[in-house]
Amino acid sequence: MTFKTAFTTVAWAALAALAAPAHAQTPLKVGLMLPATGTYAALGDAIEKGFKLHVQEQGGKLGGRTIEYFKVDDESDPSKATDNVNKLIKRDQVDVIVGTVHSGVALAMARAARESNTLLIIPNAGAGDITGPLCSPNIVRSSFSNWQPGYAMGEAVGKRGHKKVVTITWKYGAGIESVNGFKEGFEKSGGKVIKDLLVPFPSVEFQALLTEIAALKPDAVYTFFAGGGAVKFVKDYSAAGLKASIPLYGAGFLTDGTLDAQGDTASGLVTALHYADSLNNAKDKAFRLAYAKAYKLQPDVYAVQGYDAAQILGIGLKATNGDPRKKAEFAAAVRKATIDSPRGPFMLSKSHNPVQDMYLRQVVGKENKMIGIASKGLVDPGRGCRM
Ligand code: PHB
Repeated sequence: MTFKTAFTTVAWAALAALAAPAHAQTPLKVGLMLPATGTYAALGDAIEKGFKLHVQEQGGKLGGRTIEYFKVDDESDPSKATDNVNKLIKRDQVDVIVGTVHSGVALAMARAARESNTLLIIPNAGAGDITGPLCSPNIVRSSFSNWQPGYAMGEAVGKRGHKKVVTITWKYGAGIESVNGFKEGFEKSGGKVIKDLLVPFPSVEFQALLTEIAALKPDAVYTFFAGGGAVKFVKDYSAAGLKASIPLYGAGFLTDGTLDAQGDTASGLVTALHYADSLNNAKDKAFRLAYAKAYKLQPDVYAVQGYDAAQILGIGLKATNGDPRKKAEFAAAVRKATIDSPRGPFMLSKSHNPVQDMYLRQVVGKENKMIGIASKGLVDPGRGCRM
């Protein structure tokens, strides 16, 4: 290179730097706070894969910014959540946090995000309070509220004519809210939940409670379990001989991302969720193909939620020329956006939770096949949200 061309290159670079806003020169710091260990580890992994797939499809940039990742394993442990989220906010000074799976951990993250006015995109945890009393312009959820699949499944179980139901779940926010949503949907049709059974999180000691279910002889059972716990529960329910006599229904997490491990014990199970393996819309087909190509794996609902978290971040950043500090513009853009999700297009409610169809699915082979729509465009009530 001659002195003249070298000088020109340098001069152009300097001019470009003056023209572009300073933040555009530096990577956007994205803090991924997800479980890498414990019963929800596979869920965290799928979310991260989905998120990164969208970023890769955009050439590694969102809103003109390259992305730098900072990662924390939250272990699905609420007692460590505040310390963990502060590693991202205070130590790493991230621009945006993406996480997490567990509702109890996510509640601590939402409080920290509100206090520090950090952008938070939640790619799973369904805690009602996050899009209820804790709702905030800087907090968005790309997934669901725990109430949504529960309520949709409750209505469907009522329509199937079941009258006496037992529920069984983990004793923490997500399980309890899922069961409450179920009751609200189910009891409208005159049915009754005769017993709520609870297991401490993340225990998988189900035997005594399965014996109790056999003795109670309900018409059906409703459950919320996910990840490793869902695999074990479905296997144990079948091994206890209950599958043939008492239909088991669940929030669709029961059979999502778990079918390889559950094998035949899951076949025929009916669940409700905002995703299924056979939706066949153009976006889903492209997504499934790209995911399988990138990771040699089939995607699940968690991968979709991670992908959509990145889409939401991209929409907000585009509207702010890559500047996540412009919180009002960011929120305005995501509020009016239609997100082109593999689950089908959706918008956000006033409290920033997806307004979405709840599909009825049935396990056939290694797929959650869509067999109907349990609830169309279901809006989480967002109780207690003021913004
Ligand atoms: C939650 O804690 O909110 C939660 C965890 C796993 C799921 C769904 C919800 O699959």
